Amino acid sequence: MKEDDPAAQQRREPAPAPPTAARSVFGDHLDVAVRYAELLADSGVSHGLIGPRETPRLWDRHLVNCAVVESVLPYRTRLIDVGSGAGLPGLVLAIARPDLDVTLVEPMLRRTTWLEGTIAELGLGNVSVHRGRAQELWGRLRAPVVTARAVAKLGELAGWCLPLVEPHGRVLALKGASATEELAADLALLERLGVQQSRVITLGEDLVDTPTRVVELTVGETVPRPRQGGGGKNRKGKGRGGRRKSGGDGR
Ligand SMILES: C[S@@+](CC[C@H](N)C(=O)[O-])C[C@H]1O[C@@H](n2cnc3c(N)ncnc32)[C@H](O)[C@@H]1O
Repeated sequence: MKEDDPAAQQRREPAPAPPTAARSVFGDHLDVAVRYAELLADSGVSHGLIGPRETPRLWDRHLVNCAVVESVLPYRTRLIDVGSGAGLPGLVLAIARPDLDVTLVEPMLRRTTWLEGTIAELGLGNVSVHRGRAQELWGRLRAPVVTARAVAKLGELAGWCLPLVEPHGRVLALKGASATEELAADLALLERLGVQQSRVITLGEDLVDTPTRVVELTVGETVPRPRQGGGGKNRKGKGRGGRRKSGGDGR
């Protein structure tokens, strides 16, 4: 559905009850996740952040799908979520893991306004919102983990996100069924951008019908520098910076 379709946004229905899998991933914080699901189904739909057809599948496809990523996050790490939209996955991870320090990066004012209101309503103290594009944070903010879901093709996304990663840090791109294919297609570009290790991790197989596929990109001691154009391919099929990097260890 189109997010801007006012008629569709009027057809709101309540959030479904949380499935058993939700208790597994949210544990003691399930009540906060339930309130977040209610807000998504209500003002999230009426403000056009999420389509009304998503309401029946909010838990499986969105909340649990994102929350399972917490299993690969160390205790008390800092995380930047690029292109959060309605808070997926960054806000979900902040709910599931109060030890995390999460920054949501989102350029659209309508979305950042909704996110700020939602964070206040949920009483979360471990998550903040930055309005802008990932590229605007280059040189200003870094974290050990950068997440993104449904934001851009892997190569372009990596160009935006890798300059936000600390030494030995990771980009975790939630990619669904296309994960292995996208990684194979962009491996050479990713190595030129500074990725030292890459792999696809499958999470939540025992919890949701469609497990979460995450492309994990790990950098080394020398962190990637921003590149003009954010890692898109130029006419010669090289990263825009054009410099080749050896030592990639893509898997
Ligand atoms: C399709 S939505 C996905 C939202 C959310 N991650 C999800 O999984 O539902 C893509 C989001 O990325 C944001 N976005 C696009 N380009 C961006 C950029 N360069 N930096 C940060 N966010 C960006 C858009 O505004 C939009 O909210």
